Amino acid sequence: MLTKIDCTTHEEVYRVSDRASGLEGVIAIHSTRAGPAAGGLRMRVYDGFDAALADVLNLSRGMTYKNAAAGLPLGGGKAVILGDPRSQKTEALLRAMGRAVAELQGRYWTAEDMGMSPDDMKVIAGETAFVAGLADGPFASGDPSPVTALGVFNALKIGAARKFGSDELTGKRVAVQGLGHVGWYLCEHLHRAGARLIVADTVATRVEEAIAAFGAEPADPARIHAVAADIFAPCAIGGILNATSVPQLQVAMVCGAANNQLANEAAADLLQGRGILYLPDYVANGGGIINAASEILRIADRERFVAERLEQLKHTMSGILDAAARQGTSPALVADATVEALMLRKAG
Ligand code: NAI
Repeated sequence: MLTKIDCTTHEEVYRVSDRASGLEGVIAIHSTRAGPAAGGLRMRVYDGFDAALADVLNLSRGMTYKNAAAGLPLGGGKAVILGDPRSQKTEALLRAMGRAVAELQGRYWTAEDMGMSPDDMKVIAGETAFVAGLADGPFASGDPSPVTALGVFNALKIGAARKFGSDELTGKRVAVQGLGHVGWYLCEHLHRAGARLIVADTVATRVEEAIAAFGAEPADPARIHAVAADIFAPCAIGGILNATSVPQLQVAMVCGAANNQLANEAAADLLQGRGILYLPDYVANGGGIINAASEILRIADRERFVAERLEQLKHTMSGILDAAARQGTSPALVADATVEALMLRKAG
């Protein structure tokens, strides 16, 4: 059942509940100005409903910015389910969420996010057509992680060219936090480019695999942000750049896949103050939504679409870094301003 929640900052926000399956969740549509709102479905334990609501409002707004930065005709939305995905995720619960997405009749497109698997998305697709990231079927785009990683690698080279005078990564030390889907593919690109990898993951076997595959040097997951290197690549959790961690960084540049890397705006200023180049996360990691967009927009030549959009993303990132350098301000602020101007132009 969808119950509308009054919200002045978003177009539509709904509490989603289903007594039979125990589903408790929220769907937030921040904006459909550019096109249908698109953004993943996340399941995790929250500290109450208000915490879940705050998270989904923040994430859905972020998707509007990410989709605009990637030049996609998509708006921003997001959905969350409250609960532990390991013990509380059932087929009935996923189906109930699928019915809720269906009720919105395409104003919101969902996809895989934290706590969801491709198999879960398949279950949801049994109830609604408005699902992206499916492994098979017409226009299926599958796992977005390789495209996300390629986009991050492109961004990292753009940043390196500005920070080190060349995009040549041979011998550059890159500290990668998180060897999951994206982190691993990013390590493959970096290794091929001759970079030296320092890696951390809370799962020890992932680190062992990276040592074997890339000759990577392991680091303590609690200290990976503070190791001496050229570049820090956060590919795990959000909020990693904060008042405590930024003063501890020993790198010239930060560029990674993780969403919401900056704990707040002050973190961007701290980075800027220390002369550390920060590549805005939602531009660097836009490859994932580009990949999913090919499915939402029913693109026949997916490879070409993805390649063209990734190329465009490179120009967007270059433009943001150039403007930031000219203005002597943080690329994070310039990214927001660039996207807001873009959205205003579209609306006008
Ligand atoms: P994942 O769940 O496959 O990988 C995350 C990895 O980080 C796991 O191996 C986990 O063990 C590790 N990890 C968790 N906490 C850690 C910590 N404190 N220190 C070190 N390692 C830790 O996730 P995925 O898909 O690789 O995504 C990584 C980040 O990129 C996430 O923030 C995600 O939101 C973001 N992202 C992912 C996209 C995609 O295409 N998969 C697209 C855009 C953003």
